[in-house]
Amino acid sequence: MAKTVLITGATSGIGRAASLALAKQGYLVIIHGRNSGKTELIRKEIIAVSGNDQIYSVTADLYNLADVRRMCDEIHGQFSSLDILINNAGGLMGKERETTGEGFEKTFAVNVLAPFLITHLLMDLLVKSNDARIINVASNSHQLNAKPDFDDIQLENHYNPLCAYGNAKLFLIWNTQHLAAQLERDGVTNVRAYTIHPGAVATSFGIGSNLGPVLNFVSKLARSFFRSPETGADTMVYLTTEQNLPGKSGDYFVDRKLAKKSTKYFTPEREQLIWDYCLLQTGFRR
Ligand SMILES: NC(=O)c1ccc[n+]([C@@H]2O[C@H](COP(=O)([O-])OP(=O)(O)OC[C@H]3O[C@@H](n4cnc5c(N)ncnc54)[C@H](OP(=O)(O)O)[C@@H]3O)[C@@H](O)[C@H]2O)c1
Repeated sequence: MAKTVLITGATSGIGRAASLALAKQGYLVIIHGRNSGKTELIRKEIIAVSGNDQIYSVTADLYNLADVRRMCDEIHGQFSSLDILINNAGGLMGKERETTGEGFEKTFAVNVLAPFLITHLLMDLLVKSNDARIINVASNSHQLNAKPDFDDIQLENHYNPLCAYGNAKLFLIWNTQHLAAQLERDGVTNVRAYTIHPGAVATSFGIGSNLGPVLNFVSKLARSFFRSPETGADTMVYLTTEQNLPGKSGDYFVDRKLAKKSTKYFTPEREQLIWDYCLLQTGFRR
């Protein structure tokens, strides 16, 4: 039977390229998008190009946790197990701080809270797989731009888009290693969790983010040197398909290799604080 993979943010860039690559390898792929028309177009395109008709779609606005819950209910109604969850959707916001309808800073909502909630809500499907993997798409921005303020996690006071993005990917990495340790403590050996940095990839990433004239110009210029979405998707495809992965659950990969995460702001207490904060904000109870 084909392995089942759910990829968020599959309507563009890296997620779209990974979905096509996995469809070509015979996976049952559930693609997530936020716009039903666009998601359906991509679903049809993947079927046509890959020749695999086991491609399904779900939609949710990941700025909206109520919508995330609805999507996960829908997935439970259609699928009885899940082998791979790729939390890929994410992004960089603009120079003005914006909040979601539920009151969360947008970078934090889409890069941290949404994957946190999706992972928790679908864990019962993942544990049914004999080799489940959660792949969270982080970024080396956690090394370059993070400067977390643990009294102001959603940057209400000194918002900066690059810092918000770096912090969000740092928190995603911490939540992933926290989850890995928790699964190990609970004796769950069939579910592993990883983070990756896909490289600098020429996608829609950052295009709509107004960072100001100088940074807008620099990022436009730099884009011509970026790798293709297919190359950007390679490490997540590798973590999905490779039987014998090096390292351990909770590790961080770049270009198929184990990589070092930033330890600059890390303490176990801060990791726990972010985890508890996400539990509180998402309202998730075990
Ligand atoms: N590109 C890079 O250089 C780079 C580097 C490091 C890390 N990353 C990470 O790689 C991941 C994929 O990014 P990408 O480069 O492929 O960017 P992209 O082309 O902008 O794709 C992002 C995907 O996420 C979806 N998405 C964004 N916000 C959403 C929301 N609120 N609700 C639902 N879906 C939402 C987008 O949907 P729409 O199609 O509807 O917009 C799209 O499918 C992100 O997590 C990003 O942070 C990218």
